[in-house]
Amino acid sequence: MITKCLFPVAGYGTRFLPATKALPKEMLPVLTKPLIQYGVEEAFQAGMNSIAFVTGRTKRAIEDHFDISYEMEHKISGTNKENQLESIRELIDQCTFSYTRQTHMRGLGDAILTGETLIGAQPFGVILADDLCVGESEGVMAQMVKVYAKYRCSVVAVEEVPEQDVSKYGIVSGQAIDDRHVMIRDMVEKPDPEDAPSNLAIIGRYILTPEIFGILRHTPPGKGGEVQITDALQTLARKGRVIAYRFPGKRFDCGSVEGFVEATNYFFQQRNEPGAK
Ligand code: UTP
Repeated sequence: MITKCLFPVAGYGTRFLPATKALPKEMLPVLTKPLIQYGVEEAFQAGMNSIAFVTGRTKRAIEDHFDISYEMEHKISGTNKENQLESIRELIDQCTFSYTRQTHMRGLGDAILTGETLIGAQPFGVILADDLCVGESEGVMAQMVKVYAKYRCSVVAVEEVPEQDVSKYGIVSGQAIDDRHVMIRDMVEKPDPEDAPSNLAIIGRYILTPEIFGILRHTPPGKGGEVQITDALQTLARKGRVIAYRFPGKRFDCGSVEGFVEATNYFFQQRNEPGAK
């Protein structure tokens, strides 16, 4: 039903300097797989096989990752290392990849608007690969597609965060439909704890309807001088057109060093569990 997924990957990743001076933050590996591949696998699992990247300077390694590497593949062909490329080969075979560049880093909202040329007039997923998500029974994006199918409006994934952390996120509030779904009425980007309408934070998973592009075109820069997707979504929320979804599963903030280390420990432990591949 939703076939396209947008990956805004143009950010500078300054929290990981000097590692991100020449290397995209999305190529940092958790164990042996780069963050961006976890994200694309999640999109693919949700039925999205048209993968669109909004990139920037120094991000070329992402394009190379989603392409065949003839020399290396030839070199390891027939050895026991061959199976380490299985997961990326499947994505390369089953998905198409397209790229456009955000020329000025004007914020996530601007990055999503830059992606319009690759998306067109249809609903689409957005994954911020530095939020690494592990869904309970299926991937978080696959869960969100089901929410979209039911409500037919934009969907944002949210989780409860400690009060002292609300100023790092877009925060939502509204009318609870049930334990997992909230019809959003109010959203605010990075509020001070005393101004936050709740502790439900938007994380890096969205399903957006194409009307968002028209709204983004008229959204002025907000917090931090950047065009905020939260501000544009607020316009839709006022019309009762955005659902917050509290997903069952975990999320690691791999845009921060602490979250990245947590994710690494988690996946390392999973890998060492009896029966793990
Ligand atoms: P972040 O707020 O994590 O910023 O962006 P960042 O620049 O990547 O990292 P730090 O804070 O400097 O360490 C959230 C997401 O939005 C994308 C980023 O690539 C990331 O996936 N983004 C942000 C863009 O694509 N363009 C922008 O102008 C800003």
